[in-house]
Amino acid sequence: LARALTQQDLAGKTVLVTAGPTREPIDPARFLSNRSSGKMGYAIARAAFRRGAKVILVSGPTALTCPAGVKRLEVQTAQEMYETVLQHSEQADIIIKSAAVADYRPGEQAVHKVKKEEISPALSLVQNPDILLELGRRKKKGQLLIGFAAESRRLREEGEKKLKRKNLDLIAVNNISGENTGFESESNQLLLLSKSRVEQLPLTGKLHTADLLLDRICSL
Ligand code: CTP
Ligand code: CA
Repeated sequence: LARALTQQDLAGKTVLVTAGPTREPIDPARFLSNRSSGKMGYAIARAAFRRGAKVILVSGPTALTCPAGVKRLEVQTAQEMYETVLQHSEQADIIIKSAAVADYRPGEQAVHKVKKEEISPALSLVQNPDILLELGRRKKKGQLLIGFAAESRRLREEGEKKLKRKNLDLIAVNNISGENTGFESESNQLLLLSKSRVEQLPLTGKLHTADLLLDRICSL
């Protein structure tokens, strides 16, 4: 019904969205992760479907149900997200990377639970692949690539660096230190940066934020 009542400005487009955190296992009982709830990415997937898009949602572990009409592919680790996203990126007209990918994973994963007396207080870590950087390298003509940036200070400078380095068309900077923005919050306030424009969105619910972001993407 929501689809019937909404302007179909994304009809015929395939939108690939990533959402949630990734989990990097230490042993069968423990993992490294971050505070992402997945709410922003799921709101984008829901809003894009309502606007007529075919939506593929690559999701890390979250407590959320898949929005109606959306095809969800569930992953755990950054490496799995990397593989799944690259398998589907060629068919996407628009890619929106709102997932909070873990930058590092434990160098090795123990098959059995490590006992607390044995666990090394210095965990050795290796860097995960940067999915968005790779998507920027492979970007096809006409494809739109949208990244997120989680920042607690110097929002505009840090966002501009990532916009350029990752070859993005647009970056949505999230203030993760704000009281009503970013991780786990129901609302958000994004700073949108493209090559030619800076736009501060209002503080509002995540579904409304998703629609404002899609308005901007449609205008690109
Ligand atoms: N990202 C990604 N793969 C990674 C790390 C990040 O695809 N291994 C993507 C995120 O999905 C997001 C964007 O890159 O769209 C920016 O993520 P962020 O964590 O803000 O930036 P990083 O480049 O990881 O830099 P840092 O964490 O040091 O600020
Ligand atoms: Ca990061």
